[in-house]
Amino acid sequence: MNIAVIGSGGREHALGYKLSASKSVNKLYFIPGNGGTANLGENLNISPDTFAGILSVVKEKNINLVVIGPEQPLVNGLTDYLEDNGIHVFGPRKNAAIIEGEKSFAKNFMKEFAIPTAAFRVFKNNEKVKCLTYLEEISYPVVIKADGLAAGKGVIICETFENAKSAILDFFENDKFGDAGKKVVIEEFLEGPEVSVFAVTDGEDYLLLPPSQDHKRIYDIDEGPNTGGMGAYAPASFVSGEMLRRIDNEIIFPTISSMNKIGRKFKGVLFFGLMITKEGPKVIEYNCRFGDPETQAILPLIEGDFAGLLYSAALSKLDKSLVAFKQNKFSVTVVAASEGYPNAYEKGKEISGLDFKFPDNIYLFHAGTKENGVGKIITNGGRVLSITAVSNSLKSAKSEAYKYLGKINFDGIYYRTDIADKGLKDT
Ligand code: AMP
Ligand code: GLY
Repeated sequence: MNIAVIGSGGREHALGYKLSASKSVNKLYFIPGNGGTANLGENLNISPDTFAGILSVVKEKNINLVVIGPEQPLVNGLTDYLEDNGIHVFGPRKNAAIIEGEKSFAKNFMKEFAIPTAAFRVFKNNEKVKCLTYLEEISYPVVIKADGLAAGKGVIICETFENAKSAILDFFENDKFGDAGKKVVIEEFLEGPEVSVFAVTDGEDYLLLPPSQDHKRIYDIDEGPNTGGMGAYAPASFVSGEMLRRIDNEIIFPTISSMNKIGRKFKGVLFFGLMITKEGPKVIEYNCRFGDPETQAILPLIEGDFAGLLYSAALSKLDKSLVAFKQNKFSVTVVAASEGYPNAYEKGKEISGLDFKFPDNIYLFHAGTKENGVGKIITNGGRVLSITAVSNSLKSAKSEAYKYLGKINFDGIYYRTDIADKGLKDT
């Protein structure tokens, strides 16, 4: 079959790599892809926002399955548009993608179905006085979140009432988050290690992928501002088999079955951002898509027909027997970013070392890269690329990931040096 992957990040390069390993895959397309995906298939220069353009190329190229990477086209209804035109899609319809697109929906849904999450209140921008009165009465820290999609920047942890007040003014008066911030969720601050769990689902049955842990902050020891994610490892072994069963019983099964019950069947991958608190696992956020960079760490641990798995989910007949997970293998992904990220950074730096012959257990995934028109690959984004190493221990996976990342260079390259250390502490 022919498959199109929508998106241009490291996640999409990793999806392409895994899909290309399936015998059933004939040709891969990336819309729009990056400097690395061009080696796996054909990049098509169409924006993920132009639904009609995507449909016409899908028909023209006889594409049998569309895999949607990022949340924005899902929340905007790309799946609905393609499915309603007879195309098979891996990714939820708009009425299910709302689980990420509107945090207030997700919180009220969890409340209704008793799925453990932080206690919360929702306020609209016409309730500023009521909201500030509430903030004066509560204890701190507290977490304030934009209701809508904010590209990972809509979460503010406030230590004091003064911080919270200025955050509310940014949301409601200074328009810092646009429409996404016209409504906010104010949440209890939770403590504990975080873990990302992905369920590939046809809306009823589901397959859990190995749990992984992201590293959201820009600097080592989790300092500095939040980013899209600076590295990940899998499996996150601090989540015991027993804890995983609890997560499944208390969170995953109730979420997937309750979405179905309320007529919002979720088909695709549901990403559970969890915190393991003293009281047990709680949902920090739902995402309606694969995580980035967790996907780059998890997919190299999967064996079998991944394209068949996603196709079976798209057809509402999930066939979990198509894939298996490598046993006793660990993976570590380290992201290399442009100096300055997550704030302003320069683009267009030439990347060296890309033609190094990496061993089979090392995976180079591009993110913000592009071909400059004369055959050179240059930086084209904040998170530029990542190296994943798969090895027999987390420790050796970490050291190999850093060893091979050392082969790559560009002006202003920056990466964290402590990816997976939290996992190593537990072993
Ligand atoms: P998000 O953009 O929703 O992934 O949130 C970014 C980060 O904010 C999460 O990964 C957590 O580290 C932190 N966070 C979000 N909600 C809470 C909460 N209720 N308590 C503590 N930390 C939180
Ligand atoms: N790595 C977190 C995310 O993809 O949202």
